[in-house]
Amino acid sequence: MKENGKLIGPFKQVLTMQHLPLKGALKDEQLEIIEQAGINIVDGKIKVVGDFEGLKAALPDDIEIVELKGDFVALPGYIDCHTHIAFGGNRANDFAMRNAGSSYLEIAEAGGGIWSTVKHTRECSQDELKFLTLKRADNLLRQGITTVEVKSGYGLNVEEELKTLRAIKEANQASFVDLISTCLAAHMHPKDYEGNAEDYLYEIGEKLFPLLRAEELTNRIDAFVEKSAFSAEQILPYYKKAKEMGFDLTVHADQFSTSGSKLAVELAAVSADHLEASTENEISLLAGSDVIPVALPAASLGIGCEFTPARKLLDAGASLAIATDWNPGSAPMGKLIESASILATMQKLSNAELFAGITFRAAKALNLQDRGRLMEGMLADLVIYDTDNYQNITYLQGGLQPKAVWKNGTEVFVRKD
Ligand code: NIG
Ligand code: FE
Repeated sequence: MKENGKLIGPFKQVLTMQHLPLKGALKDEQLEIIEQAGINIVDGKIKVVGDFEGLKAALPDDIEIVELKGDFVALPGYIDCHTHIAFGGNRANDFAMRNAGSSYLEIAEAGGGIWSTVKHTRECSQDELKFLTLKRADNLLRQGITTVEVKSGYGLNVEEELKTLRAIKEANQASFVDLISTCLAAHMHPKDYEGNAEDYLYEIGEKLFPLLRAEELTNRIDAFVEKSAFSAEQILPYYKKAKEMGFDLTVHADQFSTSGSKLAVELAAVSADHLEASTENEISLLAGSDVIPVALPAASLGIGCEFTPARKLLDAGASLAIATDWNPGSAPMGKLIESASILATMQKLSNAELFAGITFRAAKALNLQDRGRLMEGMLADLVIYDTDNYQNITYLQGGLQPKAVWKNGTEVFVRKD
């Protein structure tokens, strides 16, 4: 890159997401939309977003100009803050069984569900798992997603969890997308573990947590707080240990029954994810906290259950991020705009609330301060559409694909058609 960087534009519209608050309901009138905009990028970061012609005249002559012909809209690269894309195998049979009348929890209790993916994932080598993760990350990149959280949780012993997290680390090094890993060794009590749930959690805390630090495999600890997995009481010492060691906490909360979000608030977790079963009580607890509630509409669509009460959360004053939850069981779809747009129609979310949920509010769910808004100092991660109006993105419910994606100031994907 030349010393003075690049100027890209003119864009018909740039949605900067600047000035929008972290919490509460948002109206589209609050969106900052810069028309005929140019984006000046220096060293992979945003320097200025402003009038294209004005910037062109003001910036030094040796700047690289990427001049666009036609109508384009740009937003911050999307952030998918909850996925499980490091897995082997497939659960098409679970889906068929659910549609034939079995519930997600019944299938899990009968030995299917998460445990069947554990078996398939353990059969993968670290390299295979790395390539499966990379392939799925590339699919997400084409959707305009430039940061992806990736959980382990299909290893369920020290060695296999390490294998998964090492695979994610290697995939991150080989990917244009930033992969933010999370340890979900507390996904369920493994069926082959000789000992009770408390013993398992103790062993993971004692043996795995220090290795996560030593190998810099992750800074985040997650657990599935649910009847089929771990109760709030069982998981508390585990989360406390993680917190003492300086990990950020996140919780699979209130998916089928409540208790997880209360725990997330008590522990000052960075996020509480799922919340399909949350009631007024949990909504007001979350709204009174700094925990980011994360809606996972593709899991509601995969299971066929209620959506997270997103409208109520926002109206109560809570924040809201939206993610794919891409996994082989509850959310095999792996489509962010599609599932978020459907959530928006069902829960009556504004465009501002939807885009906030997949940009700066999702960044906050991952404790990342350097992305999610297009303003000075932020990473130059961009999703670019060939359209004249940002509203088309959600209106077409995923039918409009990004034309290009930029990561750290470089174009990393262009749609060919
Ligand atoms: O977020 N709920 C727990 N974990 C995943 C599903 C995992 C699976 O079914 O494989 C979720 O929905
Ligand atoms: Fe999940």
